[in-house]
Amino acid sequence: MGYEVWGLVRGQGNPRVRHLRQLVGDVRLVRADLLDQGSLISAVERVQPDEVYNLAAISYVPMSWQQAELTGEVTGLGVLRLLEAIRVCSGISASRSPGGGQIRFYQASTSEMFGQVSESPQNERTPFHPRSPYGVAKVYGHFLTQNYRESYGMYAVSGIMFNHESPRRGAEFVTRKVSLGVARIKLGYERKVRLGNLSASRDWGYAGDYVRAMQFMLAQDAPSDYVIGTGVTHSVEKLVDTAFSAAGLNWRDHVVTDTAFIRPAEVDRLCADASKARDELGWEPKIGFEELVAMMVDADTELPPAATARSSRPSPGNAAPGPRPGRPDVRPGRRRPCRSRRSGLPPGRRAGAGGSRRAGTAGR
Ligand code: GDD
Repeated sequence: MGYEVWGLVRGQGNPRVRHLRQLVGDVRLVRADLLDQGSLISAVERVQPDEVYNLAAISYVPMSWQQAELTGEVTGLGVLRLLEAIRVCSGISASRSPGGGQIRFYQASTSEMFGQVSESPQNERTPFHPRSPYGVAKVYGHFLTQNYRESYGMYAVSGIMFNHESPRRGAEFVTRKVSLGVARIKLGYERKVRLGNLSASRDWGYAGDYVRAMQFMLAQDAPSDYVIGTGVTHSVEKLVDTAFSAAGLNWRDHVVTDTAFIRPAEVDRLCADASKARDELGWEPKIGFEELVAMMVDADTELPPAATARSSRPSPGNAAPGPRPGRPDVRPGRRRPCRSRRSGLPPGRRAGAGGSRRAGTAGR
């Protein structure tokens, strides 16, 4: 697409860097941390980006109860530091200067901001009622992005993204946890997968479609915020049913509900009204729910055995906080060698390099 892409990495000897290089070897890396204002200014100075996409956050909702302060620092104040880095490097003064600066900024806002929804489906005017420290921090980042646009005339926009998934999704999120669980059960490594609230509903779409929407948002003449989602919602139970059916299995034989994964406050049902994005950006999702779930199950079934065989047991990092009464007693699954030896990375998009536009992405 004619982009030279830079990724922001943090920490000393970060093990994810090697993984990143395998996945997207043509992305150039720059070191900085959302907790460190000076490092962000240095990164923006070095890369001189045309566009900055802030996809960085502590994004796993249960983690935000366990580390609420850190979530506020990274997911909330991190947006402030990044906007300040752009403002300072662009030479924008404290007074409003319409169209000031050349760097365009994208903030990854989220449907979690709607939380306990007051109307359905949700659009850009639906009030926010976040239900987690993560959602609260995202509301801060959302309004701050809007404020920098209004205060300094910066091209700064938010995409209010509903859940977007792919075979690269982290294993702690429910779609990937289910697709990996199905693969492990299908390949004989496990017999059960433990889940929390099966009645919650989400508007799940394909991440590649949503990245396209992000790019469209930064290519408009005038900056504006957009809801991005499919407009179709399904329960976790329907997700589970679809994923197990895709592998020829009956979910009722394998799914165990576990209170360890129930959240202190739940977002019950989300559904996007993305008509503004359709009308103004010409954006529409290309991949539907069934195709997405089948893609994820297929990708996990074809992973190398070492990746598929890893334990799926709850760990402090992926279980919800709070009491864990009455955990059902389930025998651990049998472990035997993988029957399929097909290998290959999950399908996914590769970032282009060497073009005239420079995009920085911040990912945590
Ligand atoms: N993770 C997880 N694990 N969720 C479960 C489980 C389980 O074992 N069992 C049921 N669920 C339910 C959760 O309670 C929630 O209602 C739903 O599945 C989706 O959970 P996640 O996949 O963890 O995603 P999320 O909706 O909380 O948040 C994701 O989407 C947001 C966009 O709306 C994250 O990617 C956020 O960072 C993002 O902002």
